[in-house]
Amino acid sequence: MPLTPIPVITIDGPTASGKGTVAHLVAVRLGFHYLDSGALYRLTALSAMRKHVEPNDEHGLAKAAAGLNCHFKGEHVFLSNEDVTAAIRAEAVGKFASCIATLPTVRQALYALQLGFRSPPGLVADGRDMGTVIFPRATLKVFLTATAEARAERRFKQLIGKGMSATLHDLQKDLNERDERDASRIIAPLRPAEDAHLLETSNMTAEDAVAQVLAWYAAARKREDAHPAAK
Ligand code: C5P
Repeated sequence: MPLTPIPVITIDGPTASGKGTVAHLVAVRLGFHYLDSGALYRLTALSAMRKHVEPNDEHGLAKAAAGLNCHFKGEHVFLSNEDVTAAIRAEAVGKFASCIATLPTVRQALYALQLGFRSPPGLVADGRDMGTVIFPRATLKVFLTATAEARAERRFKQLIGKGMSATLHDLQKDLNERDERDASRIIAPLRPAEDAHLLETSNMTAEDAVAQVLAWYAAARKREDAHPAAK
């Protein structure tokens, strides 16, 4: 009997489009593993910053990515056994992560690590290039969008809720810069896969978005069961 491939759902989109929340909830609903690929770029950034690796030292940054000693436990992220869940969310780390994510050697160094998250019974992976580069044969690909205003407001509420300080103006400026960098880079730019479902979430609750993704997934599984060789 042929082996059934381990299903993957990819959820890509720009910063603060809600993909983390939606991907996590979909994974919980299906009992699947969850990969927050942005966390790997943030972990690489934090590790490099702590080692005082310069943002233009491509070799040093690739080394930090390749030597990443990290693990995930529930919603917590560890770097060499230190809980860095809050530390990697700092705006400075996000900014550094977005800069180093333009480097092919860094992306290459994180490639195999990301593939390794695919294990039974299935995986929900969120990021920028999950459907285009890392899991091009995913069962379901979703690309989330939301207006820059809606995204800045969400990020603002998140940060304030965590007791961090922020201004809407600075957040919006930073989001625009990051979007521009992610979309214009030569390697793995932010864009929907050709076969991705687009979901505009500006006026949607997370629950509505989750319900839509689950409905698309159920339909995709039905199609796969009818044509098992398609993926
Ligand atoms: O999603 P998050 O904001 O945590 O990601 C941090 C940065 O990592 C992003 O700004 C983006 O530049 C980069 N990234 C990427 N490819 C991914 C995930 C994140 O380039 N798959």
